[in-house]
Amino acid sequence: MRQIEIGVIGAGWVGGIRANACASSAVVTGLHIAETNPDRAAEIASETEATRVTDDWRTLVETASIDAIIIASTPESARFPILRAALQAGKHVLIEKPIAPSPAEADEAIAIAEDKGVQLSVGYTRRFDPKYAYVNAAIKRGDIGEPVTCLVSRNITREIGAKIKGRSKMSPAAMGGTHSIDFLLWCLQPRRPVLVYSQQSGKLFNQVSDTPDHQWIMVTMDDGTTISAGSGWVLPLGYPQYSQSWIEVVGTEGALSVDDTHREIQVNTVEHGIRYPLSSMPGEPVDHVFAGAMVDETLHFVNAIAYDRPVLVTAREARLVMDVTMAADLSAETGQAIELA
Ligand SMILES: NC(=O)c1ccc[n+]([C@@H]2O[C@H](COP(=O)([O-])OP(=O)(O)OC[C@H]3O[C@@H](n4cnc5c(N)ncnc54)[C@H](O)[C@@H]3O)[C@@H](O)[C@H]2O)c1
Repeated sequence: MRQIEIGVIGAGWVGGIRANACASSAVVTGLHIAETNPDRAAEIASETEATRVTDDWRTLVETASIDAIIIASTPESARFPILRAALQAGKHVLIEKPIAPSPAEADEAIAIAEDKGVQLSVGYTRRFDPKYAYVNAAIKRGDIGEPVTCLVSRNITREIGAKIKGRSKMSPAAMGGTHSIDFLLWCLQPRRPVLVYSQQSGKLFNQVSDTPDHQWIMVTMDDGTTISAGSGWVLPLGYPQYSQSWIEVVGTEGALSVDDTHREIQVNTVEHGIRYPLSSMPGEPVDHVFAGAMVDETLHFVNAIAYDRPVLVTAREARLVMDVTMAADLSAETGQAIELA
């Protein structure tokens, strides 16, 4: 084990959680943050007691003592120059999904990472949620025999949808569906996706933009297992950043179902009515603990670099997810099922 220095570029909602996680790690001896919003920069500097906070990500890439960089800035479409520069500088990288704006750029990033001998991982946070990790382990152990069909249906509130819509033209498949596709492809490894069909629906957001409200993705794997992944972002406002998911996996010898709707805690107040706290996708701090998977995911990355271990989510896996979500968008546009090479 060696102690390491970490850079975090973009310390908004997600980058802030990751920066605080890094600050809590005994293996991190230096925490460097690039954040362009001065108010947020001041806030995160005080929260994390970072070694340095700057508004210029280039200074982090150029700092030789930094071992690894976490890229959590938005918009996603502007992140590739940061990713490429960080990898070319020989930094290990954890980037929020999607890995890159296009397949060609994703391939370029993977080639640079392999050439430089650094780890490139992508923020597929669901893999670090114990419920999801259990489903993966159960399928791989054969607890339910051979999987026949797998479903993940995820819906988030319209406040998140509006935030995403404001900065990007990406579809529900690329933004939320990508987590479900990554999760199910992981569970079903070594099977490969061969056929993708998708449909979108839009009655709210599409009145003011090209963004649909919901997307279903159906995937057939090479052994005939089917996947259905639904992703939407128009739930009514409730608890801030509320997210709800259902998972159902049916196999030849059994079935798994997971309620990830966060109804285990219900708060009912005169002001807000019923709410389900601790229900946002990345999770949230509660005094001295963190309710959610993003801190464990961040510490896994930090420890992988410090202990020279492989990261759980590889760039090549993220590239395969991109193939599926892009095929889904093409299918939704053309109405045709898309075969994957
Ligand atoms: N893994 C998950 O569960 C999960 C959940 C939500 C969001 N995300 C992803 O995380 C990413 C960040 O989302 P967010 O909600 O935190 O966004 P955000 O808008 O809250 O934060 C982005 C931050 O980046 C800063 N920024 C923008 N350009 C910059 C630059 N050039 N240099 C430095 N800072 C810069 C902004 O000022 C902002 O503070 C997105 O790609 C999103 O899709 C992942």
